[in-house]
Amino acid sequence: MNQERKKKTIIPEFYRDLKKSNTHPALYYFSFRKSSKNSKKPIPTPDNLPHKIDFKWDQIFDSTGHIEIEIGSGKGGFLCEYSKNHPEIQLLGSEWDKSWALFALRRWMQKKHHDNVNMLCGDMFYFVRDAVPDHSVNAYHMYFPDPWPKEKHHKNRLLKADFVKEVARTLKPGKRHFYWATDHQEYNEEALSVFDAFPKCTIIERNSASPTEGIMTGFEKKYIQEGRPIYRSIIVFDK
Ligand SMILES: C[S@@+](CC[C@H](N)C(=O)[O-])C[C@H]1O[C@@H](n2cnc3c(N)ncnc32)[C@H](O)[C@@H]1O
Repeated sequence: MNQERKKKTIIPEFYRDLKKSNTHPALYYFSFRKSSKNSKKPIPTPDNLPHKIDFKWDQIFDSTGHIEIEIGSGKGGFLCEYSKNHPEIQLLGSEWDKSWALFALRRWMQKKHHDNVNMLCGDMFYFVRDAVPDHSVNAYHMYFPDPWPKEKHHKNRLLKADFVKEVARTLKPGKRHFYWATDHQEYNEEALSVFDAFPKCTIIERNSASPTEGIMTGFEKKYIQEGRPIYRSIIVFDK
């Protein structure tokens, strides 16, 4: 009865825009369009549908032949090492936390070997859903995402069926990889069950993968020191 009376909460869709930073040449913001300069209020879309933006990779990368995305780069350890080893890959790092985005970018710029990195500051669920074109990404990397351990916060987890649907849409045809790692057993099981239930992919290494090309992330190093278990998997989207 109580539940019947409970009002259904509708989360509005908002306009979001991609903006290049004025101060950092490799930094882009994907953020709400504000109603005015002095207001922080985001503008909702009139039809409550996602605001798809007309984005092409050549707006941010010179070469668009091979694009990979890291979700939640943190301090940028993986971003720096992987981009150094792969001048042929254009790597988009990402962070919704601006201070980590800047930290990772500065770290990369200090040791910069090639011009093959950009950083997206924003929520990657919306960027992938609303901006990334179909069949345009070669691989995704998602290492140690925030686990949101409390049940009431599980809804904030990024690795869910609706996100995996967007991953599948944006990956190029062929055998494309999604690299996954976490220390959180329950989130790991939930994530792998999402992949298992998804018709377009196969888990080719289940909890037994090694760090991608031997590169351990910042959180991974910390968790290993603390003796926590690490669950690493590789998922192939091939159908
Ligand atoms: C636990 S840290 C892991 C960082 C790094 N991958 C590592 O393994 O060292 C997770 C990071 O993901 C970022 N993050 C969480 N949700 C995000 C989202 N929806 N979009 C972009 N970044 C996100 C957080 O700000 C945080 O820095």
